[in-house]
Amino acid sequence: MAHPEPRPVTVHAAQRLAGRIRVPGDKSISHRSLMLSALAVGESRVEGLLEGEDVLATAAAMRAMGATIERGGDAIWRINGVGVGGLLQPQAALDMGNSGTSTRLLMGLVASHPITATFTGDASLSGRPMKRVIDPLSAMGADITASPGGRLPLMVRGLCPAVPIEYELPVTSAQVKSAVLLAGLNTPGITRVIEPVATRDHSERMLAGFGATITVEPGARGRIISITGEAELKPQTIVVPGDPSSAAFWMVAATIVPGSDVVIENVGLNSTRAGLVTALRLMGADIEELDPRTVGGEPVADLRVRHAALSGIEVPHDLAPSMIDEYPALFVAAAFAQGRTVARGADELRVKESDRIAVMKAALEANGVVTIEHEDGLSIDGTGGDPIPGGATVASSLDHRIAMGMVVAGLHAANPIAIDDASPVATSFPTFFDLLADLGGSVTWG
Ligand code: S3P
Repeated sequence: MAHPEPRPVTVHAAQRLAGRIRVPGDKSISHRSLMLSALAVGESRVEGLLEGEDVLATAAAMRAMGATIERGGDAIWRINGVGVGGLLQPQAALDMGNSGTSTRLLMGLVASHPITATFTGDASLSGRPMKRVIDPLSAMGADITASPGGRLPLMVRGLCPAVPIEYELPVTSAQVKSAVLLAGLNTPGITRVIEPVATRDHSERMLAGFGATITVEPGARGRIISITGEAELKPQTIVVPGDPSSAAFWMVAATIVPGSDVVIENVGLNSTRAGLVTALRLMGADIEELDPRTVGGEPVADLRVRHAALSGIEVPHDLAPSMIDEYPALFVAAAFAQGRTVARGADELRVKESDRIAVMKAALEANGVVTIEHEDGLSIDGTGGDPIPGGATVASSLDHRIAMGMVVAGLHAANPIAIDDASPVATSFPTFFDLLADLGGSVTWG
């Protein structure tokens, strides 16, 4: 899979990383802030929005369905919404780029509006499974025509009024949960999702913040989330905390490069997202939480991370949902630990922007790291803190987190590591290479 304009990059080993950096806004919260603002009547303001390609795809889609979305010179985004039920028929296909979150959540919104939308995406997104959202949204009455295998391009013809359902998630996925809840916003009655394993809860928090009637209760089969439609959303002012999934790369980088001392400011530490901090601490990482506070209703702290020796661990399976996007970073940390790290129970990694188990195995092995592939994860034998051999070129496979993970690996390698295409980094972390330079790392382009 190739990007239309690949950006090859070579990473050089770093002496030490030091300084203070601020990671961009949380991707999950940024998507939801645009979607819900676009459904509120009146002006919402969003500060700290992630201005990455994925979130901009959501903004473009919400504009195409009638919302007014503008970025002020003060970097505050102002959104005038159309009201729940007020989405307009888009005049052209919605191009979702690389973004699974945009696709699945917006399919939910369209499903209960009297409109039809076609969703397209890049080669990575066009290979990802959509049956997981097609099934519940079809049960609510949407008519969905997908490409073979339940993939993009696909067309959603919404039903209005849609039919409320009770849906027990067959996959551990915040995107599927959110798609059903968002469809429930414009569906008369109570739409219910039962979540056997808890996943990130940003949708529930933000829907409540916008004034929707939503309840979350424990039940015998898991968390029961009930939303009452047709909802009326009130405009809000939102401050987006920094993305823990972006901070993850710097947590690992500072831990593995000897002599490092880095402060990562404004990191969201919602417990449904902070699994990597727990896993790295179990391995021996030195991560200090400074100035814990609340930003936009989410727990946030500055993280001071200093170089530390790591030991291989068996990563507890129950951490998987709260660090599902962090496995590429974790695999890199494991490559520098003493002994073997076993990271299993994460079969969802097979259907992310790439097959993150197979692609990370190939990338690490090409650079001299011994790994064992499992259906649901990887085992990795670490160097005990020495540099990995390096010296190979890896394929990022249209996956931002593979590219960033292998850049971090290259910061402590005996020979430079090259990435065939770093352009996917712009989907979630446009300032990644600037921050690397701020901390004292260096790369060569081309
Ligand atoms: C996300 C949910 C997760 C995650 C993705 C963002 C979200 O996907 O991997 O990066 O914002 O809801 P799944 O729901 O497929 O696990």
